[in-house]
Amino acid sequence: MLQTLKPVPPDALLAVTEAFRADPSRDRVDLGVGVYRDATGITPVPRAVRAAEQKMLSRQATKAYVGQGGNRPFAAFMEKLALGANHPALRDGRVVTLQSVGGTGALRLVAELIRLSGYTGAVQVSNPTWANHVPVLQGAGLATAAYPYYDIPAGRLLAGRMLEALSACEPGTVVLLHGSCHNPTGADPEPGHWAELAEVMARRQLVPFVDLAYQGLGRGLDADAAGLRLLCERLPEVLVALSCSKTFGLYRERVGAVMCVAENAAAAATSMSHLQALARRNYSMPPDHGAAIVAEIASDPALHADWQQELDDMRDRVNGLRKSLAGALRSELDSGRFDFIEQQAGMFSMLGLPKDAVERLRNEHHIYTAPDSRLNVAGLSGKEIAAVARAIAAVSRT
Ligand SMILES: Cc1ncc(COP(=O)(O)O)c(C=O)c1O
Repeated sequence: MLQTLKPVPPDALLAVTEAFRADPSRDRVDLGVGVYRDATGITPVPRAVRAAEQKMLSRQATKAYVGQGGNRPFAAFMEKLALGANHPALRDGRVVTLQSVGGTGALRLVAELIRLSGYTGAVQVSNPTWANHVPVLQGAGLATAAYPYYDIPAGRLLAGRMLEALSACEPGTVVLLHGSCHNPTGADPEPGHWAELAEVMARRQLVPFVDLAYQGLGRGLDADAAGLRLLCERLPEVLVALSCSKTFGLYRERVGAVMCVAENAAAAATSMSHLQALARRNYSMPPDHGAAIVAEIASDPALHADWQQELDDMRDRVNGLRKSLAGALRSELDSGRFDFIEQQAGMFSMLGLPKDAVERLRNEHHIYTAPDSRLNVAGLSGKEIAAVARAIAAVSRT
């Protein structure tokens, strides 16, 4: 049987990391893989995470299964974090949440739930979108289509064209939106655009599917969830994938959550029963550790405050790096061509460079971006900004 399989090409982004590791140059800079790095170049374990782990270790009495929906205090905390404590959907009991295996696991479970509902249309994704969205959706048996989102060479959001395309979608169409810190572009809808999105989606009876993987890393915990909160007020159904990988630095613990906002409490409970059944036949029971850490932080005001402070500091650092890089590029090129880097949010921006320029960055300057010229701004330690700006300027002049 295995003889019949054809090899799958390696994931293009993981191949960038391999190439970086194999590069002996002392000047090499990895701006490919999407992890936050501090000024010393490491992806830190947040202080609150470390402290929560220590508290938990001395207390844990069993390793018995957690339970089908996962850690319940964790799920309650994630709902409040995403929606705000007093959101009407929470008051109305329209929200259910299941712990998932990272944000990707949440996306997959939502995709399977969509399939299970008998949906036969294509799921609309932004052009461009995170490289794993289409494989996850198609892997669950869904078709995908793309709506206009971003003008790559101009470095700007195509809000009007996006709204126009969504206005033409069939009622019931599922639309995948990035809650904040759009990956790969860093360009998010403005508050006014979210209001228009909510209006179009309500009028056309579309179903938002919001991927919120970077809450707090763009403009702030509340600002980054404002679009999602609005959609959950205005629309009867919203599907949500949440991730704790970046916001709690828990990448390898694989913790996230699926949140379903349904028309009423009964529909929400039915959705939960299906999510539990889907989880059961995928991996049976969720892991404990990552969600238990988040629940511990949520239950301890001092740890909670410290986590929030460190998240604020990470965001300020990334925004500072954005400003410095855009400034250095302005000086190198004597033009505002890359000014969008400063205005965008979250970990990524796209340089909008052609393939040969991306290759020159790598081969001549030892700077590794994703193949589509996505740059992980949060991967810069700070010291290499001048060299990175010089290299980008050199390959973008010709
Ligand atoms: C847009 C987006 N969604 C979801 C995820 C899922 O992250 P994870 O599965 O590591 O929690 C990522 C990670 O890079 C992402 O960029």
